Amino acid sequence: SADEIFNSSTTMSGYTYDDLICLPGHINFGVHDVNLSSRFSKKITLRTPIVSSPMDTVTESSMAIAMALEGGIGVIHTNMSIEAQAQEVARVKKFKAGFILDPVCVPPTMTLEELDALKQKLGFTGFPVTDSGRMGAKLLGLVTKRDCDFIEDRKTRLTSIMTPVKDLVLAKEGIDLVSCNDMLQKSKKGKLPIVTESGLLVAMVSRTDIKKNVEFPNATKDPLNKQLLVAAAIGTRPADRDRVNALVSAGVDAIIIDSSQGDSVFQHEMVKWIKTNHPNIQVVAGNVVTKRQAKHLIECGADALRVGMGIGSICTTQEVCACGRAQASAVYNVAKLAKVYDVPILADGGISSPGHIVKALSLGAGAAMCGSLLAGTSETPGEYFYSEDGKRLKRYRGMGSIDAMKKGSDDRYFGTAAAIKVAQGVSGTVQDKGSIHRYIPYLTQGIRHGMQDIGAQSVQQVQSMLQDGQLRFELRSAAAQREGGVHGLHSFERKLFD
Ligand code: XMP
Repeated sequence: SADEIFNSSTTMSGYTYDDLICLPGHINFGVHDVNLSSRFSKKITLRTPIVSSPMDTVTESSMAIAMALEGGIGVIHTNMSIEAQAQEVARVKKFKAGFILDPVCVPPTMTLEELDALKQKLGFTGFPVTDSGRMGAKLLGLVTKRDCDFIEDRKTRLTSIMTPVKDLVLAKEGIDLVSCNDMLQKSKKGKLPIVTESGLLVAMVSRTDIKKNVEFPNATKDPLNKQLLVAAAIGTRPADRDRVNALVSAGVDAIIIDSSQGDSVFQHEMVKWIKTNHPNIQVVAGNVVTKRQAKHLIECGADALRVGMGIGSICTTQEVCACGRAQASAVYNVAKLAKVYDVPILADGGISSPGHIVKALSLGAGAAMCGSLLAGTSETPGEYFYSEDGKRLKRYRGMGSIDAMKKGSDDRYFGTAAAIKVAQGVSGTVQDKGSIHRYIPYLTQGIRHGMQDIGAQSVQQVQSMLQDGQLRFELRSAAAQREGGVHGLHSFERKLFD
């Protein structure tokens, strides 16, 4: 049982996911019968137990929207101004399936040459033209592929080739998606701009988006107002109280206090302050890896705990600070203590496959928080570029890397006042993984297969099997770990899903 492995007085070792393997149980249900619903915090339940990390190369509004639509939740990072972070939260809360609320706009003075560069960078072809080149300004027209083809002089300005607003089919603010669909079908147009009475652009609907399935049955929504749920990270400085107030005004549902070592007086005070001043907001405290740290934060009122220290793919904390814990040991031990108080935990970092998520849930986590696993998807901030050998890549960096800390994340490592910034993370690149809307279904299907093999039809069931010792694990030797991966081939190609 997990208790025998993690609390054996003879080994005193720390174990991580790869050190363990779950022994299979008995299957008497289908893979689709596995229910992955699980708790993110005391009051928030997810149908997909996956959370995107508050990192500046992972979660801003596009990622948080996609994660919530797929049944998980995204945590907007805090490496930006208070206003910018509140706006990112507001974007998620305002999201309505099928409506593009922040279409990229262009000014009428832009040249075709500049538009060509923008198209290449963003990969889409139709843009609204507004007087300031921004969203929310007066709509002047639309430029689509048809307007631009066959024009030789690429210095031509958009004002002379765009379809002007008088020739466009427009919808009025407040229209619903079904009516938009009707208008698009009748007019045979590709794009439908939505404007206010005075002609300011507020949204757009695109025929190609409507053709895609806009139904997300697993979406993480507020049952009352149907808005998507979103979380946001903050630090522990006194000024972060202003940040919390702004995030709450923007509609945030959960605040994550972002610190590599959560058991500090700064964090204790912050948890208590939020719970006193914003009692309806869920507070996720951390990070912790020991029962003692966890107990302190639970006593301050935390609604969930984030577990993991120095085990992320981009982390150097254990190397630099000699502190941390192997992740399976941390998750199991903290989850055991937190269960006594009915506080869910998030297994944060070190996850590189659906199998790791199965292990995290099997060791007591309510959900898995992932950085590198989700980095490189199209919803993450940043643009793709190509490596010399033709691979499509995106940047992924630790919040304790020098680059990220220069933008403000040094508070996560208590480094704000220090003259020398000591890196606790690195910057790197990851390969393109396509869209979250294809990737999360692959991960969840993988998790369901794992749960089925264990013989557990729900996260709740696997955790009660953990409790009563029915769930059996075995430690793996180094040779067993090698054997459990692909081996003995001259070469192979890994295709993750189809
Ligand atoms: P993965 O393995 O999913 O880990 O890429 C993501 C988690 O790592 C933490 N994090 C860091 N830890 N130095 C650290 O020691 C860093 O620079 C750093 N940046 C992020 C964080 O908990 C995240 O969710």
